[in-house]
Amino acid sequence: MIAYFVIVLILLGIYYVYFKRELDFWKNKNVVSSRAIPFFGNYTGYILLKKCIHEVIEDLCRAFPSEPYIGAFYGTEPTLIVKDPEYIKRILSKDFYYFNSREVADYSEKEAITKTLFFTHGDRWKVLRQNLTPLFSSAKMKKMFHLIEDCNNSLNALLEDVAKKTEFEVRSLMARYTIDCIGSCAFGVNTEAMTSENNPFCVIGERIFDASNSRGFKMVGRAIWPAVFYKLGLNLFPLELTEFFKNMITKVFEERQYRSSDRHDFVDLVLNLRQSKHLVGDSMKNLKGDGKKSVIEVDDDLLSAQCMLFFAAGFETSATTLGFLLYELAKNPEKQEQAMKEVDEYFKNNKKISYECVFETPYLDACINETLRLYPVLGVLTREVVEDYTLGGVSLERGVRIHIPVLNLHKNPHYFPNPEAFRPERFLGVEKDKIKPFTYFPFGEGPRICIGMRFAKMQMTAGLLTILKKCQIQLVENTARNITFEPRAMTLQPAHGINLKLVLRKK
Ligand code: HEM
Repeated sequence: MIAYFVIVLILLGIYYVYFKRELDFWKNKNVVSSRAIPFFGNYTGYILLKKCIHEVIEDLCRAFPSEPYIGAFYGTEPTLIVKDPEYIKRILSKDFYYFNSREVADYSEKEAITKTLFFTHGDRWKVLRQNLTPLFSSAKMKKMFHLIEDCNNSLNALLEDVAKKTEFEVRSLMARYTIDCIGSCAFGVNTEAMTSENNPFCVIGERIFDASNSRGFKMVGRAIWPAVFYKLGLNLFPLELTEFFKNMITKVFEERQYRSSDRHDFVDLVLNLRQSKHLVGDSMKNLKGDGKKSVIEVDDDLLSAQCMLFFAAGFETSATTLGFLLYELAKNPEKQEQAMKEVDEYFKNNKKISYECVFETPYLDACINETLRLYPVLGVLTREVVEDYTLGGVSLERGVRIHIPVLNLHKNPHYFPNPEAFRPERFLGVEKDKIKPFTYFPFGEGPRICIGMRFAKMQMTAGLLTILKKCQIQLVENTARNITFEPRAMTLQPAHGINLKLVLRKK
């Protein structure tokens, strides 16, 4: 009985300490905030996997429509939700040094995959970024384009089969195309994702982005309580995934006898990095005026984890975006017609697709941009304060989280009138010039902007040219007219498949 009483007292004590802290934290800084619930903070729906993170933040933004920022608790972690474009600019770009980490900076060495560019921070991030950036230059993309062209030939053949079906799930189809592109460019292997449906790359792709309860809780648990997460011996990604990529990349290295080939793919480029054994780059302190260099060791673990990251980021993001884009074109036949006109014009002037297609098809580019406005791959950008900083008079201590509500800004009628409408024209001519800086960032912004943006646009534009040259896209009876999103997914994903129909165009 006494033990029971003591336990209740302890629990009440913990509750009180958290409650008090959470009640006072933002109040003491003169920042508006909503009442936080102990343990869950203001993110209950997200932590319980009932709502996507952008939906939870949307509710908070709606409660304080004219505040430049809102104080919140991400579980037990103090978090500033920043809505004002000027402050966002400081965080993502101008004062990037203080916000160079995405999340849980002190734990990025725990897993092979979290040591890579997306997850790491500080000097390690800077050295990796400096050394990996040249892999994505225009010149490199151009040299690689012959691989994308091969994939488009396979896509062209696959479309014939798909058009025979009464309907098909669009994201899965697009994933088969982008898996083939990234497999070929990142690993130098022909994945055959478009010729055989259940091939290992498609299976592994599904495993990486597995939107199950267990993965969802792991994602949330690691992001909010990393110390407990790693004490429990958990990993964000199953170890067999990294093993799969390590075995594959080692096989490819061996086949090439550890020398670069004439494919001009990422493996060639990564093999060059491997030869140097160390990567050297500027230290983050340089941003504060120090002229120091920083060095990290290169080993096969790092390179294969890096390739796994490129595979994951490279196929999933573009597949989902292409899926949403085709869905919007099916819903908006007049926009589809406009896009087809441009495609027909392109093929009038070009016998086949070349790398330059990205610059020669402004309407397709506007369709991609508009799709990413409505469906940004990351509905919320995260940053973490790595050194104490004062933002507009609010002192932010090391470790405070920053959430930038991307989707909320993309749908703000003040920045994008009639925000629910699919209007690629927003991204053309004078309308495009009017977009306020730091209100639209589907690829992020500042030094941590998506490194693969050029690659993504290249594979998406080429894919669209192939599809729209050959087919018209139509809705079917059970295509959802409004999309709901999957709270357990790592990126913005539809909760249910989107079924469409392809009709071959008359020649
Ligand atoms: C439609 C396609 C894509 C979209 C919408 C997208 C979006 C994003 C976003 C929003 C970020 C975070 C940026 C920030 O925090 O400021 C990011 C980072 C990143 N993306 Fe992409 N991405 C796409 C395709 C790709 C591709 C094709 C690759 C690689 C082949 C890639 C590799 C990465 C990497 C490595 C990072 C981390 C960069 C860093 O932290 O320095 N992404 N991407």
